[in-house]
Amino acid sequence: MLVNDPNTQSCSRRMHAFGAGLAQQEILCSALEDLADTLPSQLDTYAAVRLAGRLVPTLTQCQSLEEREVFPLLRQTGDTSAQMLDRLHAEHIEDEDHAAMLADAINGFAHDPAQNDAEALGYFLRGLFQPLRRHVAFDREVILPMYRHALNR
Ligand SMILES: [Fe+2]
Repeated sequence: MLVNDPNTQSCSRRMHAFGAGLAQQEILCSALEDLADTLPSQLDTYAAVRLAGRLVPTLTQCQSLEEREVFPLLRQTGDTSAQMLDRLHAEHIEDEDHAAMLADAINGFAHDPAQNDAEALGYFLRGLFQPLRRHVAFDREVILPMYRHALNR
């Protein structure tokens, strides 16, 4: 592989973009866990509303890059099972749906904690960041190396 080759630079940029998206999702999971840990009495409502606001855009941006660039290439090379990519795609849809509902729940709680159930919100938070962490770990450990291999063919 030639470092100054435009194709090499393009591969490197694409790998970097995918890796950065995974890192952003890991940061998001940590922020959601931190929020859950502050419930009910130590919640920073301003930070919670800001987190709620970036939840769906962040996930959509990261996952659409996988859908647009990573999955099509892996489907094309045929090294990855179609069922596995279908499962990952389904998880993206579930996570984005969950994130939209969670953002509403976080906003509702932040605006009126007394009228909302902290335990239910904590359960809701864990319902997103735990499976999302597992998904991102799989993306990092399995999909990222496959993508690198496919780009370097
Ligand atoms: Fe993913």
